[in-house]
Amino acid sequence: MEPLTDPFGRLHDYIRISVTDRCNLRCIYCMPAEGMEFQPQDEILSYEEITAIVESLAPLGLRKVRLTGGEPLVRKDLEKLVTMISAIPGIEDISLTTNGLMLPAKAALLKEAGLSRVNISLDSLRQDRFSMITRGGEVSKVLKGIEAAQAAGLEPIKLNVVLMKGINDDEIKDFISLTLNSPLNVRFIEYMPIGSATDSWRQSYLPLERVIEACTAAGWETEEAEMPSGNGPSQNRRVIGAQGTFGLIHPVSDHFCDNCNRLRLTADGHIKACLYWEDEYNVRPLISDPAAVQALFRKALGNKPHNHEMALALEKKAQSHTPTARRMSQIGG
Ligand code: GTP
Ligand code: 5AD
Ligand code: SF4
Repeated sequence: MEPLTDPFGRLHDYIRISVTDRCNLRCIYCMPAEGMEFQPQDEILSYEEITAIVESLAPLGLRKVRLTGGEPLVRKDLEKLVTMISAIPGIEDISLTTNGLMLPAKAALLKEAGLSRVNISLDSLRQDRFSMITRGGEVSKVLKGIEAAQAAGLEPIKLNVVLMKGINDDEIKDFISLTLNSPLNVRFIEYMPIGSATDSWRQSYLPLERVIEACTAAGWETEEAEMPSGNGPSQNRRVIGAQGTFGLIHPVSDHFCDNCNRLRLTADGHIKACLYWEDEYNVRPLISDPAAVQALFRKALGNKPHNHEMALALEKKAQSHTPTARRMSQIGG
């Protein structure tokens, strides 16, 4: 069968599946202070429906599945979904993006079910700031989650740090220090204007050159490093002699769309071919018909734009498509 390609010849073998829009935190860049109205339970895809979609796509060359949220581990018994997906012929890699809070309870079960690895969000190592950014979270619980993932062998572990001006940009050195004696991959991510180009994004966005400047200031020499498992958008480096690596994910200042291999599925069953634009396709009514599911994914890919033009939002310039109104917690990053 024809593989999943788009008009620009990009091959799509990776899907990011949001399993819930709910979360046990409310990060300032992701959810509004007042919280959100969550999608009703009966609109959320069941594990059977998600599995059927992945089964339809595996014969077209889908190989990697990432589960996201909201916080995916607030969905009951997520390990059951991992077991179901890992039984699908052709699926080689199942990973999870999580805030880490529930990993002490779940890491071993997830590993046993077939999960390969986890990416964990951690935007500050200081409790007062972490609490401010997450609106009430405890950093010690995330650190316990990292330890649990290490103990369960859910490796390589990647930490996601969204860099924010005046909020955590003085912690770059502390984060990179974590990689000196541990095989972690710490990724600094440019703040993206997803959901609504908010004032907070305009105030807090920082390009990632700051990371290289911080290394120079610390007296560290760095070298290019191989990509730890996965083929995401991160460019990786290592402080010479360090066990771990750090990565730069810079969607705004320098997009990486030429190599995009990703499809997205929202918790309520909408296909998104690009994170940033509003175009989406409701696959839910078609799930019992694999050929129809395949055709809708091909249609979504047929309309996939070449890139996201986020930088134009920073300059307040017109963009060629309409940015999505969904918040990051409803897409899964
Ligand atoms: P692996 O490489 O498989 O480990 O995954 P990843 O780094 O892509 O996944 P993760 O969920 O940890 O995402 C890290 C950051 O990259 C998040 O801020 C995502 O929103 C962002 N990201 C992931 N894929 C894309 C993409 O296709 N486009 C854009 N603009 N950002 C992305
Ligand atoms: N910009 C960049 N990264 C974001 N994430 C959530 N919202 C944003 C944003 N506006 C990150 C989270 C998580 C991953 C899925 O996406 O920190 O690690
Ligand atoms: Fe929750 Fe993740 Fe959004 Fe933070 S970024 S509020 S942890 S879904």
